Amino acid sequence: MKIVLATKNKDKIREIKDILKDTVVEFVGLDEFEFLGVVEDGKTFFANAKKKAFETSRHTGLPALADDSGLVVPALDGAPGLYSSRYAGKNATYEDNVGKLLKELTGKTDRKAKFVCVCVLFFPGGRYFTARGEIKGLITEEPIGRAGFGYDPVFFVPGIRKTLSEIPQFEKNKMSHRGIAFRKMAEIIKRMKLSPPQADATLPPQADEDAHHPDKDGEQTKSAVAGVKSE
Ligand code: IMP
Repeated sequence: MKIVLATKNKDKIREIKDILKDTVVEFVGLDEFEFLGVVEDGKTFFANAKKKAFETSRHTGLPALADDSGLVVPALDGAPGLYSSRYAGKNATYEDNVGKLLKELTGKTDRKAKFVCVCVLFFPGGRYFTARGEIKGLITEEPIGRAGFGYDPVFFVPGIRKTLSEIPQFEKNKMSHRGIAFRKMAEIIKRMKLSPPQADATLPPQADEDAHHPDKDGEQTKSAVAGVKSE
């Protein structure tokens, strides 16, 4: 079975391919297709992931796997949340975003944060499967470590007393939000025994375990960004 990974973010593609390497599925990157991608205007991580997977599948005619992820900081009313990749502006670099985050948290004692990842696998027949992962941590006062990407240098994991930038990729994958979500998805793919479901097929009982409550943990919505709490 061939599945298109509906992202052009090379850091995410590297992590996802590594996490899914045992699924015997051929993954192709979105860069192999002339597709500009979609506007991420959903109100939840799930809505954005589903839209990306649906549009990519429609465009390529292949099953498409998309994720939406971000950092949720309760002391900032859930920000940067859905806007994690562009927190400091449209063309912001990872460093810009981290800089803004540290500035916004200056003087705050509550440094709790979590990474959330929701992935959706969409089949041309209209069926989709979804899975979700989270990792909890604390935002440091300054970046520590060189590995990873995005907010990793300021995301401290109490269980290992390190930031995600101080550990190798394979260690991060074992505990990360993306690792958890995509390993659940890998199980779903394996259970399909590599035969794609048809539009009227019955889902395996566990396959869409997260589908009906994708927002159960109250992830950030657009209204939360505007200052209105959604939870
Ligand atoms: P997405 O591409 O819309 O899912 O945006 C994800 C953004 O959230 C990234 O650009 C990062 O800023 C942040 N992010 C998501 N996952 C991670 C991670 O594992 N480490 C660090 N930052 C992350």
